[in-house]
Amino acid sequence: MTLRAAKLIARAEVVLYDNLISPGVLALLPPAAERIYVGKRCAEHTLRQDAINALLVEHALRGKRVLRLKGGDPFIFGRGGEEIATLSAHGIPFEVVPGITAALGAAAYAGIPLTHRDYAQSCVFVTGQSQDASMDLDWTALARPRQTIVVYMGLPGLPQLCAKLVEHGMPARTRAAVVQQGTLSSQRVVTGTLASLPRLVTKAKLHAPTLIIVGNVVRLRDKLNWFGPAA
Ligand SMILES: C[S@@+](CC[C@H](N)C(=O)[O-])C[C@H]1O[C@@H](n2cnc3c(N)ncnc32)[C@H](O)[C@@H]1O
Repeated sequence: MTLRAAKLIARAEVVLYDNLISPGVLALLPPAAERIYVGKRCAEHTLRQDAINALLVEHALRGKRVLRLKGGDPFIFGRGGEEIATLSAHGIPFEVVPGITAALGAAAYAGIPLTHRDYAQSCVFVTGQSQDASMDLDWTALARPRQTIVVYMGLPGLPQLCAKLVEHGMPARTRAAVVQQGTLSSQRVVTGTLASLPRLVTKAKLHAPTLIIVGNVVRLRDKLNWFGPAA
C-alpha cells in the first residue's frame, strides 16, 4: 500500500472492509476504530452494494472519519466509483487512495511482466463475471496479437475463455497462467497453453481468488519466477 493509505488507516474512526483484506492490514487500524465487515464476495455485489453505500453515508453524517478498505485498487473492479458517487450525491467530502491492483501484484510475484518489448505492447484487464453469469466479452478485440489479457473473477469460466479466444483466432499454443492468492506466501501458479490450461487447473484444484493471465509474456516466467516454489 502507499504511504498515504497507511496514514489514513491509522486515523480511521469507522472502517468498512471486504473479505480480501488481510489480518496484517487490519492490524494497522487504531484499536478504537469501529470495524464493520461488509464481506462482499463477487457474486453478492449487486445485492449488497446499496447497503454498503448507505452505511458509508450514515457513518459520515455522524461526523466520523470513515475508511472504506478494499483489496487492490478501488477503481479496478472495485465499485469505488459507485461508492463515491453516493458520497458526492450527499455532499460528503472524500479522498480516493489508489492501491496495487491484483493484476499488477500477482503478475509481479508470478514473474510475468505484463508488457515486454518482445511479446506484448498492450495489456487489457477484463472481468470474467457479468450480471447474467455469461462471459460477454469483445472476443475479437481480446484475441489481438501482442496483447496480454488479465481476467479477474474468471476461474469458473476458464474453459469458455480459452475456447472463445481460440475460436477468435488466438493460437491454441498461446501461453496462459492462473495465479491463485497472488503475492501471498500461499500463492500458487499454474501455467499452460490455451489448449491445456483448463485441464491443468482442474487437476491442481485451484480456487478463488485467482487471476488468469493470457499471452506469450507468460513464457517469461520460465526464467523470471523468483517467488516461492512453482505449483
Ligand atoms: C471484486 S475483484 C476486486 C479487485 C480489486 N479491486 C483489485 O484491484 O485487485 C476481486 C477479484 O480480484 C482478483 N484478486 C484479488 N486479489 C487477488 C489475489 N491475491 N490473487 C489473485 N487474484 C486476486 C480475483 O480475480 C478476485 O476474484
